[in-house]
Formats: sequence, C-alpha cells, structure tokens
Amino acid sequence: MENQRIVIVGAGVFGLSTALHLAQNGFSSVTVVDRAMPPVPDGSSNDISRVIRFDYGDKVYAQLGKEAYDLWNTPEYAASFHQTPCVWTAQRSSTANAGVQAGGSDFIRKTKAILDDLGLEWHDLAHVDALKSRFPAVAGRPIGEGFEGFYNNAAGWADAGVAIANLRDRCISAGVSFITGARGHVSSLEHGSDGKTITALRTIDGSTITGDRFILATGAWTATLVPAWNSMVATAQIVGFVRLTPAEIAALRDLPIIFNLSTGFFSFPPHEQSGYLKVACHSFGYTLSSTKSMDSVSISSPPTKAIPARANFIPGEGQERLLAGLRDVLPDLARRGFEKTCLCWYNETPTGDFIFDYHPDYTNLFIATGGTGHAFKFLPVIGKYIAGAFQRKLSPELTQKWKFRTEYRDRPREELFTGDRSRKGGDGSRGGPGRREFTPEERDTLLSLTNALAERQSRL
Ligand SMILES: Cc1cc2nc3c(=O)[nH]c(=O)nc-3n(C[C@H](O)[C@H](O)[C@H](O)COP(=O)(O)OP(=O)(O)OC[C@H]3O[C@@H](n4cnc5c(N)ncnc54)[C@H](O)[C@@H]3O)c2cc1C
Ligand SMILES: *[C@@H]1O[C@H](CO)[C@@H](O)[C@H](O)[C@H]1NC(C)=O
Repeated sequence: MENQRIVIVGAGVFGLSTALHLAQNGFSSVTVVDRAMPPVPDGSSNDISRVIRFDYGDKVYAQLGKEAYDLWNTPEYAASFHQTPCVWTAQRSSTANAGVQAGGSDFIRKTKAILDDLGLEWHDLAHVDALKSRFPAVAGRPIGEGFEGFYNNAAGWADAGVAIANLRDRCISAGVSFITGARGHVSSLEHGSDGKTITALRTIDGSTITGDRFILATGAWTATLVPAWNSMVATAQIVGFVRLTPAEIAALRDLPIIFNLSTGFFSFPPHEQSGYLKVACHSFGYTLSSTKSMDSVSISSPPTKAIPARANFIPGEGQERLLAGLRDVLPDLARRGFEKTCLCWYNETPTGDFIFDYHPDYTNLFIATGGTGHAFKFLPVIGKYIAGAFQRKLSPELTQKWKFRTEYRDRPREELFTGDRSRKGGDGSRGGPGRREFTPEERDTLLSLTNALAERQSRL
C-alpha cells in the first residue's frame, strides 16, 4: 500500500494529520487537495482558538485527549498552545432549562468519574462563590442556586490557525504535495466500470486528479460528495468576538475557559494578537438543507464556494444567546456587544464518534470525518489513528467505535441526532434550543453575504 498514490481531500485537522503520518511512515505519494490553502478560511479547523481538554464523559476520548494534551505541552506546539484551566458549570434546578441541564449534570458526573478512574486530577466548585474566588476575573454573578461545577488545571486552548499552518509546513517538509484553489475544489468522484472503485476526482476547473486510494476528510461538506447513509449531519454553530482594549486584555489574562452546560455557552481568555475575546455555543445548531441531484436525498451542508473569511452573520436569536452567556461572566463586555459574529460548522454523527472507515459503496474510498464539534484537540495524535484505520491496523474496539455505520440509512434524521431536547443522546455536553433549519430570511442573508465574499475572492 505504501507505494500507492494516496489522495486526501480536505486540509483540516483530519486530512493534514493523516497526510503527515502517512508521509512520515513510508508512504511515497501523498497529495492533499482543498478549496484553499490551509488554514482554510471557512474550514472548521481554522479560528483564533479551540479548547484543548481531556475532560470527557467517554473513556476513549478522555485517554486520547490526555495523549494529545501531553503533546500540546511540548516545544513542537509551543507557538499555538496556551495552558489555561477549563471550568465546567451547570445549573441543576432551573426549570427554564428542564431537560437540558440534566444532560449537563450527567456530563459532569460521568467526566469526574472517568478522570478519577484514570487517576487524573480535578477540582470541585461546590458553589458559585468558589468559582469567583478561584477565578477573580469572572466579574459577573452567575446564579448560585442549583450551581454545580468543577475545573481542571490541565487544559488550555490552541490558536487553531497557527497550529494548522505549522502542521501544513510539517507536511510540506515531509514531502506531501498540495493542490489548492479551483484546481483542488472537488465537484465529483469518478468511478470505474465496476462501480465500486474510485478512479479520479473531478474538480470545478474541469480537470481530474487520479489516484489509487482516496481519503475524504471533507468535514461538514462530506455529504455533498458521497452518499452519507444518514450517518452524519452538518450543523452551523454560533461564534462571537468582542473587541478588547489593551488594558482589558491585561486584566482578563487569567480568565479561564468556562463552559455553561445548561446553555452550551463557552468563553475563552483574551486572544492577545487579535485583541478579541471569543465566545461560542456548543449547541444543536442550524441546518442548511438542499436536495442533492445525484440521489435526490436532502442533506445539510455549508456553502461550498471558496471565501476569504467567514460571513459576519448569525441569527438574531443566536446573538441574544451569546450575549446572555457573556452577561453571566463579563457583564461590561456584554453591554459592548460583538464586533463580529460568524457560523462554524460541525459534521455530527448520532453518537459523537468519529467515522474512520472505508465507505460502504467503494473499496478504495476511505472516510475520515464526523468531528462532531470536538476533534481539533486531537491534532497531535489523530493522524496515527486515522492512518491505522486506513491500513486496517486498529484494535477491534477502536475499529468498532469509528466504523461507518450503515444501520441508520432508513431511520428519520430527527430520531438519530441530538437535536431533540426531549430525548437522550450525544454525550450531554450540549445545551440550548433544539436543532432547526435556517429560516428563509436567515438563509438568504447567509448566502448573499457568502456570495459577495466569494466574488471578492475570485477577483483577487
Ligand atoms: C464553532 C466551533 C468550535 C469548536 N470548538 C472546538 C474546541 O474547542 N475543541 C475541539 O477540539 N474542537 C472544536 N471544534 C471542532 C473541530 O474544530 C472540528 O471537529 C475539526 O476542526 C474538524 O476537522 P475536519 O478536518 O473534519 O474539517 P475541516 O477543518 O472543515 O476540513 C475539511 C476541509 O475539506 C475541504 N473541502 C470540503 N469540500 C471540499 C471539496 N469539494 N473539494 C476540496 N476540498 C473540500 C474544506 O475546504 C475544508 O478545509 C469546534 C468546531 C466549531 C465549528
Ligand atoms: C449558566 O446559564 C444559566 C441559564 O441561563 C444561568 O442562570 C447561569 O448563571 C449560568 N452560569 C454561569 C456560570 O454562567
């Protein structure tokens, strides 16, 4: 297999980490193709920050997270990694959040048990006063009644754009080839006469890229290229950026990462270089649906045109949710509001498990996706596991966990994904309203802003 031509579509964390691992382990021809050179402006692996933690209600991800965390702390990642405590909070008894906060409590309980089990430290926050005295930068007054929480000092955040640029450079040094722009923007996959083998990728400029084995690491766009068997759905999540003064950056330097599991809201310490404080919601998100002409299946996907930056847009109600979350932690900044907001896309699977497996329809097409909003932190290690699955060398346990599930095909999407608040599902780390489709007005705004950006890009 080492002498075959391996073509990887997608230069996010999954694609690049896989390319590096293969190139460093004897594969002589590895090519990465993408709509843009990484860090890809609207790729999910690109932003000013991503949380790095090993607090998980699932033992496999806790262990994998710890393996990655130890590497984030080495000189290799010093340019992008910032060690910072991570705080988890939930509101046990507010009736306004009935159904959702139960998930938050559940996540906290399971996560503490797993950390104990692995002999890893965590610190209890019995009351909101404990939060405020340990982290004095928290200026707001989150409600104390029903509050529960803990924190882990062994956590932090990575400047995702910087980390991806470094990973790209390591790929180039290791001999990985890149094809980007229109020449790397895949419009379809061509298969051989047997119908079971992919022979080439067709790109939007009309050219083709041939290969022996193909890896799709196309994140939230994956269902636009291959039948998804109902095993993934792309959801848009909300992000906001507040402009800080240099004095505020200094005053908030010790702000921890804080998650509010009751609402999904989470916030980062200041990002010095950009002068932004970033907040987001780990929620059920919005879908942008269309009907795929190829097999008349309705799928959700981000806009596909290459753009130089994400559109400055989120739904009004999302704006409100981000401000409400910020008000609990830093009320003065909430009054200022956001300089910029944007959507960032998750490719979600029903269980939150990644998909690292051959596609059920093709023998030489491997899928590496299903990041489900939590994959970035694994950047230092995930390529080893994806390459392991690609070579069918993973343990039976991991092979099973990350298999391409075909049993969802005929089940309704609503039944499978964690969008419906009334049913259990996922890992309990999400909060906020159920998943919904963008309204026609929201859709028009998002698409017209995106098209304007794409035009600006094509004129460059
Ligand atoms: C708002 C937000 C917050 C998050 N926070 C965290 C966090 O704190 N911690 C954490 O660990 N994770 C976090 N995540 C999740 C993490 O960022 C993702 O799971 C991860 O980046 C997914 O990587 P990927 O390689 O699958 O996708 P991507 O990075 O999106 O890569 C897919 C690539 O495929 C390319 N592509 C798609 N279609 C085509 C095509 N037709 N032709 C050519 N190229 C194509 C795209 O251009 C893109 O570059 C967050 C995600 C979001 C959206
Ligand atoms: C979490 O959200 C709930 C519901 O909005 C709120 O009452 C609480 O104060 C928040 N907690 C923190 C720590 O921000």
